[in-house]
Amino acid sequence: MFIPKERIRHPLVPMHVPTRKEAAAARLFTPLELPSGLTLADRTWIPAMVPWRATDEGFVTPDVIDWYARFAAGQPGAIVVEATGIRDVPSGPLLRIGHDRFIPGLDKLVRAVSEASGGRTRLFIQIIDFLRIRRRPDPERFFSTFLQLRDEHRARLAEVNADADVGSLDDTAVRARIARLERSQLEHVLDGRELESLDMGERERVTDVHLPHVRDLPATLPGLFAEAAARAKTAGFDGVELHYAHAYTMASFLSALNTRADGYGGSLDGRMRLPLEVYAAVRERVGARFSVGARFLCDEAFEGGSSVEDACHFAVGFARAGMDFLSLSTGGKFEDAKQPKVGDAAYPYTGKSGFECMPPALSDAVGPFARNVPKQARVRAAVRSAGFTTPVVVAGGIGEFGLAESILERGHGDVIAAARQSLCDPDWFLKLREGRGGDVRRCIYSNYCEGLDQKHRKVTCQLWDREALDEPGVSTTDNGRRRLVAPPWRR
Ligand SMILES: Cc1cc2nc3c(=O)[nH]c(=O)nc-3n(C[C@H](O)[C@H](O)[C@H](O)COP(=O)(O)O)c2cc1C
Ligand code: SF4
Repeated sequence: MFIPKERIRHPLVPMHVPTRKEAAAARLFTPLELPSGLTLADRTWIPAMVPWRATDEGFVTPDVIDWYARFAAGQPGAIVVEATGIRDVPSGPLLRIGHDRFIPGLDKLVRAVSEASGGRTRLFIQIIDFLRIRRRPDPERFFSTFLQLRDEHRARLAEVNADADVGSLDDTAVRARIARLERSQLEHVLDGRELESLDMGERERVTDVHLPHVRDLPATLPGLFAEAAARAKTAGFDGVELHYAHAYTMASFLSALNTRADGYGGSLDGRMRLPLEVYAAVRERVGARFSVGARFLCDEAFEGGSSVEDACHFAVGFARAGMDFLSLSTGGKFEDAKQPKVGDAAYPYTGKSGFECMPPALSDAVGPFARNVPKQARVRAAVRSAGFTTPVVVAGGIGEFGLAESILERGHGDVIAAARQSLCDPDWFLKLREGRGGDVRRCIYSNYCEGLDQKHRKVTCQLWDREALDEPGVSTTDNGRRRLVAPPWRR
């Protein structure tokens, strides 16, 4: 986890506890109608969180159902189901929606959420595409196997070794010589991408248009997203959230680093072209009454990445196209991720951009609480100035009633998304509504949960996962040491 040099630990702001009457009058608990006609009972929202509970084949499990039913028991206005892959390819224990065989499990999930929330909570599913990323290789294997040897390597090796005999060496000997180079010499012999593959693990980019499957993304993705959205509709979801945020394919099209020269990169409109075409294909497939929104970044939050001005441009474009909501996140990129251990894959939340995405309590002077809302408010203002009323969902360190209410009051956002606070206490919105805010278990923004996500372990909260483990019916991790969902609220 990235920690700023100031290392200021921010205590929680005391929770403003509304009475039941005050809560009833609060903006947070007023309904909101989306352009599709779908009404959220209030402006509380649990954004996507991957809990690592699907089968290795991407199916819904009883643990997935328990996870979402537990959130639904707290009756938020909306829950967004975790990033769910649109392709029919293996991707580990992450949910998938790339084939009709996934529909029955997702249908069960929809029914469980409806039942647990008494029909109050609207349910969306986040649909995602991602490019290939490999684990950081063992250097020996990298040099002996993965490195695609080229004539340039031989030429540059000859330069650094001042070695006349390089031309006569066979490939194995050249590889062995490269493997023995000092770092500064290696930096001369390998190109930037090869060094990155050695240090971090190979990672595809949307600009790798020499790869046919990457070149053809503009042709393939609209159909894949549209079919996934149609399956979500069949399974009974209220809508889909197109995942255009963080480190994944669609965010990479929007990124300032997207220099594709085929009309799908370069200018702001070029970068936004595929995201708009994906949206258009989805909308055509699911119709106007099914909600379709997107999650994207108000700021990529790394040097050279997209800025809030870029996000304003995209937001206006998405609103004009007719999206039902714009959900804003920040950062979470590979570009500034920390070097993983050999055998591990890079994780896009380990650098400064990851810190901005899930701001922890140990921070700089600004601190974690709603730290990116000022940028998100600028995006919303741009949408409003352009004449659109599309709801804007804001997120990042919002876990307190007074803060949430003031964001809505100032017009900085229309819906309050809270991920970690909701994981810590899935009933917190309900407790506030019922005038029982004093009972809320407060998230301490330790990012223990994010650490589990990084290790692809089942996500739980440190404030409840050791509680009442021997209670009958409690499901736990395989070693029995952590419970998988928050204990029930005993009123
Ligand atoms: C364990 C975990 C998993 C997450 N998975 C996703 C995800 O699948 N998709 C997504 O857009 N954001 C994901 N996020 C980011 C959250 O949705 C949210 O934007 C972020 O945690 C900041 O909000 P918070 O301060 O309320 O936690 C995840 C966050 C956590 C802690
Ligand atoms: S582990 Fe719990 S307390 Fe810590 S950040 Fe995650 S949700 Fe909050």
